[in-house]
Amino acid sequence: MKHLLSIEDLEPAEIHEFLDLADSFAEVQQREIPKVPALRGKTVVMAFFQDSTRTRSSFDIASRRLSADVVNFSASTSSVNKGESLRDTIQTVSAMGIDAIVIRHSSSGVPQQITNWTDASVVNAGDGQHQHPTQALLDCLTIRNKLGDLQGKRILICGDLFQRVARSNILAFTKLGAEVLVCAPKTMRPIDIATWPVTIIENMDDVLADVDAVYLLRIFTKERNGVQLVPSLREYRTLYGLTAERAVRLNPKALIMHPGPMNRGIELDPEAADDPRSVVEDMVGAGVPVRMAVLFKLLSSVQVETVVDQGKAKG
Ligand code: CP
Repeated sequence: MKHLLSIEDLEPAEIHEFLDLADSFAEVQQREIPKVPALRGKTVVMAFFQDSTRTRSSFDIASRRLSADVVNFSASTSSVNKGESLRDTIQTVSAMGIDAIVIRHSSSGVPQQITNWTDASVVNAGDGQHQHPTQALLDCLTIRNKLGDLQGKRILICGDLFQRVARSNILAFTKLGAEVLVCAPKTMRPIDIATWPVTIIENMDDVLADVDAVYLLRIFTKERNGVQLVPSLREYRTLYGLTAERAVRLNPKALIMHPGPMNRGIELDPEAADDPRSVVEDMVGAGVPVRMAVLFKLLSSVQVETVVDQGKAKG
């Protein structure tokens, strides 16, 4: 595997392989020196053309924990600001002898496109409304760590189904055998939703007591392309938010999930975000070992046991 562009490209066994690798790297994280020499001599470029806190910093930390060199690159401080094209930019950084580009971009398909302009491995860190594969992997890892397995689990996803997180998570969850229910205003349902492997729920209250996880999608609180997708945020919260009152009626064992950044009081009330069932912080924590697993799988040819043991000897 040279690139990670979409969950669509992964077989269930490959998803499990990433999660197993992440488990190995999670153990490394517990050490006094949480670092292994797996990617010594490799260079990873972070090319973020859209804002990010979680994804960017966890890829950066993951690269350093694997002993790779990291180059951070953003649209606002590069020659992109002077009008350089994306193609020229990618070819320029590639000419410096790099091994991987982790890219986030507002346009769907950009990670796929740049594979034509570089010999480096390309990792999709979120492209437009298309995919966010490492978010899906870390969400699967969180569910697996908390519930043992995704097979047969019922996961309710609420909110803006145009979000790339919805697209990649639905694929990942169903590939691992989960049943996915979705609940969203009609304006937040893609036109081809009937072809998705999901059950549409009109009223989330009907299923709250009977799900293993509820996943609240972030919604844009400002107009998107001049269009407001819901009449009011207050109405959205009332119909689709995990309010404090709904959290009381949620299955006592269900996980509360959100990819962040959260709009507290809209997608979920503070009481739900801070509920003991909330795994939002666990999800952020899973980001580093999952991204170590992805970089390791794409850039290293040695066995994970070898590098984990090497790190142990040094640590
Ligand atoms: N979940 C997520 O992608 O967060 P960031 O935008 O902060 O990276």
